[in-house]
Amino acid sequence: MKILVTGGAGYIGSHTCVELLKDNYDVVVLDNFSNSCQEALNRIQRLANKKLSFYKADLLESPSVRQVFKDHKIDAVIHFAGLKAVGESTCIPLKYYHNNLTGTFNLLSIMGEFNVKTLVFSSSATVYGDPSTLPITETFPLSATNPYGRTKLMIEEILQDLHTSDKDWNIALLRYFNPVGAHESGELGEDPQGLPNNLMPYISQVAVGRLPRLSVFGADYDTPDGTGVRDYIHVTDLALGHIRTLPKLAEKPGVVIYNLGTGNGFSVLEMINGFEKASGQKIAYQVTDRRPGDIAACFADASKAKRELNWEAGKSLDDMCKDTWNWQKKNPIGYRTQPKEE
Ligand code: NAD
Ligand code: UFG
Repeated sequence: MKILVTGGAGYIGSHTCVELLKDNYDVVVLDNFSNSCQEALNRIQRLANKKLSFYKADLLESPSVRQVFKDHKIDAVIHFAGLKAVGESTCIPLKYYHNNLTGTFNLLSIMGEFNVKTLVFSSSATVYGDPSTLPITETFPLSATNPYGRTKLMIEEILQDLHTSDKDWNIALLRYFNPVGAHESGELGEDPQGLPNNLMPYISQVAVGRLPRLSVFGADYDTPDGTGVRDYIHVTDLALGHIRTLPKLAEKPGVVIYNLGTGNGFSVLEMINGFEKASGQKIAYQVTDRRPGDIAACFADASKAKRELNWEAGKSLDDMCKDTWNWQKKNPIGYRTQPKEE
């Protein structure tokens, strides 16, 4: 089976490509490297000891996307490509709407032209807004509080409409909770450009000495220790969730929706402690004001994915922290530690 992975050079995409290759799928990656680089692709192939096909192409440019479908008989698409920084999306909303929505429209139209109607879409727990109870099931009400979240919500709705109009489409909406960690080899990981927006890369850059201290955004939430609670999931577990989704889509189920999380919530202070234990490094931090738009707590009911995909997250908080630290130590300035290859 041949899978097109859009955004396959990125954080979650790269880990998924390794697992796909290990599982004997043929992999074609399309990425414009707007938030990634060639070195990630080199490492994927080294880790899996297999080759993938690669197109440096932008989803906004239909002819180059069409070329991929002309060159390869694609069976299914895993669609990771998109811009993902919540804060940035509030400053440059049009860029987010254009990239995420138009990019997806182009992809879907071209998939239709070539009669490729099997899609796994990267959605996010952000579509649940501020949930009134926990844990979150897939039937909870949906809302968005920022342009990034709105692109996810809109694409989910568009995909539902597409299936309503043409029952040949089989689509999985995978709602990720908080992806963290790195490949256990330390060869692949998250490589944010500039100041990290998310907790785990921020902690690991403090640990490695790139940043002086972490700001803990609020300690007055209605949570056990006052700091925000999230459902952190190891990126390899997340990657495996995509692999388990492919046979499900082969059963032609129409549109299916799954939470990919662990079902456990950890606070910011618990994450700091966990990381200190796993790394042996002290994490300097100070409590500051709440970050606008943050919610107190968010964690998944992940039982539907367990029941229907036979998937559940297997890695612990200690694994998440150890693997993040291993990646950060081996690659203190990310993929740029390696000579550039093109
Ligand atoms: P990432 O930025 O590391 O990967 C996205 C990849 O898509 C990058 O390699 C980038 O170069 C590429 N890309 C972006 N726009 C493109 C375009 N127009 N054409 C071609 N390539 C393009 O992000 P990630 O963390 O791996 O996230 C993957 C997906 O999962 C995204 O859709 C994101 O919104 C979603 N998601 C991520 C998180 C998270 O916290 N990381 C949580 C929920 C959902
Ligand atoms: N936090 C800090 N300091 C930091 C960064 C984060 O205290 O420097 C706190 C936040 O306040 C929050 C927790 O750590 O309580 C997690 O924050 P992240 O920024 O790591 O993650 P979010 O839950 O805010 O959002 C992430 C992605 C979204 C995605 C969502 C659900 O950024 O795109 O998970 O999947 F939608």
